[in-house]
Amino acid sequence: MRARPIALKRAIANLVSNALSYGGAARLTLSAREGGLVRLAVEDDGPGIPEAELEAVFAPFKRLEASRNRETGGTGLGLTIARNILRAHGGDVVLANRPAGGLRALASLPA
Ligand SMILES: Nc1ncnc2c1ncn2[C@@H]1O[C@H](COP(=O)(O)OP(=O)(O)O)[C@@H](O)[C@H]1O
Ligand SMILES: [Mg+2]
Repeated sequence: MRARPIALKRAIANLVSNALSYGGAARLTLSAREGGLVRLAVEDDGPGIPEAELEAVFAPFKRLEASRNRETGGTGLGLTIARNILRAHGGDVVLANRPAGGLRALASLPA
């Protein structure tokens, strides 16, 4: 695909760093092109995010209560930036809680 590599690296790194910070480990799955999109799932086995907050955490500086006082905590901009970059490429990123527990960030890009 035609893409800005440094920007894409940033977007993926932000998702992976969340999985590492909040879930302890990251599992990445790249899916073959389907429907004009490639998808990259970044999954962890952490606590996930309350359903009502799955979209809200994309807002700038939004951090959930549980993560607000982490000494390793970030700024609340990682998901904002990741989504901006992916949307600028014609893709997107959405979050979902995994049925087995943990979070899945699903990034999609036209290809
Ligand atoms: N994999 C995850 N598991 C649980 N909560 C998460 C995960 N990723 C993000 N979050 C929640 O979403 C918030 C916003 O994430 P982000 O924009 O990357 O900001 P930051 O990591 O700097 O706090 C985090 O503070 C955290 O509360
Ligand atoms: Mg982050």
